[in-house]
Amino acid sequence: MKFFVDTADIADIKEMADTGLLDGVTTNPSLIAKSGRDFMEVTKEICDLVDGPVSAEVVALDHETMMKEAETLRKIADNVCIKVPLTIDGLKTCKKLTSDGTKVNVTLCFSANQALLAAKAGATFVSPFVGRHDDNGLDGMELIADIRRIYDNYDFGTEILVASIRNPVHVLKSALIGADVATMPPAVIKGLFKHILTDKGIEGFVADWEKTGQTIPTS
Ligand code: G3P
Repeated sequence: MKFFVDTADIADIKEMADTGLLDGVTTNPSLIAKSGRDFMEVTKEICDLVDGPVSAEVVALDHETMMKEAETLRKIADNVCIKVPLTIDGLKTCKKLTSDGTKVNVTLCFSANQALLAAKAGATFVSPFVGRHDDNGLDGMELIADIRRIYDNYDFGTEILVASIRNPVHVLKSALIGADVATMPPAVIKGLFKHILTDKGIEGFVADWEKTGQTIPTS
């Protein structure tokens, strides 16, 4: 499963990229606003930091303007992936862009039928929002399982990019279901490394090693 980080914060992206485990970045208008940065400038900086796809979202709601915005965003870098909302205009734009070879991430997906439409529109990625699904008393992971089953039934090439991830359990269940990508805040990625027994184990090893009075030569 590919790991994307869901942020426009350059310092966080650098820290995640340094682990060697980062496969891409997703942003959206809210994350850009939170960064306080110029959209075009910060997107270029992010594209220079990672080799994988960097999702940059159009803000127009009509197809014609979405296409114009996408044309501008595509020029930022070769690894820009255009993000469009799951609407009729968004999927018209998706169909046109992917037919020209541009990667498209269809976002704000909240039903398996919407995901089916995104695949039919040739989406590179579809982004079902599991956290917001859960927030409304629905089962976000059931949505991912339904989409996985539908995509496998018809051998669709669209990748399931699980978004709105709030905790490591979302990541675990996404992997068990067979989602292709998980995009998550930096804190959730860091949480994946943590386990109390790992910390306790390291403490024990360090304490016992110190008793030997030895060191491992490093030069
Ligand atoms: O990529 C979508 C993500 O940023 C939304 O997350 O926690 O606002 O639902 P959240």
